[in-house]
Amino acid sequence: MSTDNQKVALITGGSQGIGKSIALNAAKRGIGVILTYNSHPEAGTAVANEIKANGGKAVALKWDSADVASFNDFASQVQQVLKNEWNRDNFDYLVNNAGIAQRTLIRDTTEEIFDQLVNVNFKGVFFLSQRLIPLIADGGQIINISSGLARFAFPGVAVYGALKAAVEALTRYFAKEYADRKIRVNTVAPGAIDTEFGGGKGDESHRRQIADMTALGRLGEADDIGLFVASLLSDDSRFLNAQRIEVSGGIVI
Ligand SMILES: NC(=O)c1ccc[n+]([C@@H]2O[C@H](COP(=O)([O-])OP(=O)(O)OC[C@H]3O[C@@H](n4cnc5c(N)ncnc54)[C@H](OP(=O)(O)O)[C@@H]3O)[C@@H](O)[C@H]2O)c1
Repeated sequence: MSTDNQKVALITGGSQGIGKSIALNAAKRGIGVILTYNSHPEAGTAVANEIKANGGKAVALKWDSADVASFNDFASQVQQVLKNEWNRDNFDYLVNNAGIAQRTLIRDTTEEIFDQLVNVNFKGVFFLSQRLIPLIADGGQIINISSGLARFAFPGVAVYGALKAAVEALTRYFAKEYADRKIRVNTVAPGAIDTEFGGGKGDESHRRQIADMTALGRLGEADDIGLFVASLLSDDSRFLNAQRIEVSGGIVI
């Protein structure tokens, strides 16, 4: 596969689950991939190696969403990788996918849990986008991964759901402030997806319950989201901007 003039996507949390699927599917569409991992370097490297084994180009970098102080160094690393691997000084698509959940009822939510959720799911998204936007080509795109839980409420995920709603609002503000550079900013909100996220989707009866409240009658798989997000990473979506798209098989409708 030729990598001349290749479009390049940076996908956070590309080491497993939804982010891994986005990375693999973007690469299948001919996009160069910079993916990040945090606590599982071997998983991040394995995804990059899989892409390379299939003829694509990929680099895995360590990045911790909660460590804003390291973001300038991370941006420099990204710049270096772009120069070395693609002979470019910018990239085209940023997918803010990394995230964590912690199931706790409101009454049991400590300040520590609250701050951790804020740092990874919201503060990190804001400051990474702010720092990397100078490296995104004019006409590029940012996709923020939200959640169905920003639209409907289940017990135990109040802070997480509220932060995803905040990310959705942020999507519109970024679209507004970077319109002069024609950078499009959109949200993809997955429904319940069968990954390790927040400890996985639980026992058979819980999974059945989720399937029963979903019009298509099943939990989602990582590829349900990965295929869709990868399909947005092209000029085919060129007039889509400042939107939230829920990809959930029709959960809680
Ligand atoms: N699964 C669902 O049901 C569901 C539903 C709606 C929305 N989502 C959203 O989809 C996104 C991906 O979820 P997933 O299901 O793929 O989860 P996952 O399987 O748990 O993967 C999470 C990814 O985020 C990375 N990550 C975790 N903490 C991080 C940190 N502090 N800094 C940087 N990266 C970090 C992980 O990297 P390491 O493993 O290397 O640490 C991993 O690559 C999240 O934003 C989540 O909120 C998921």
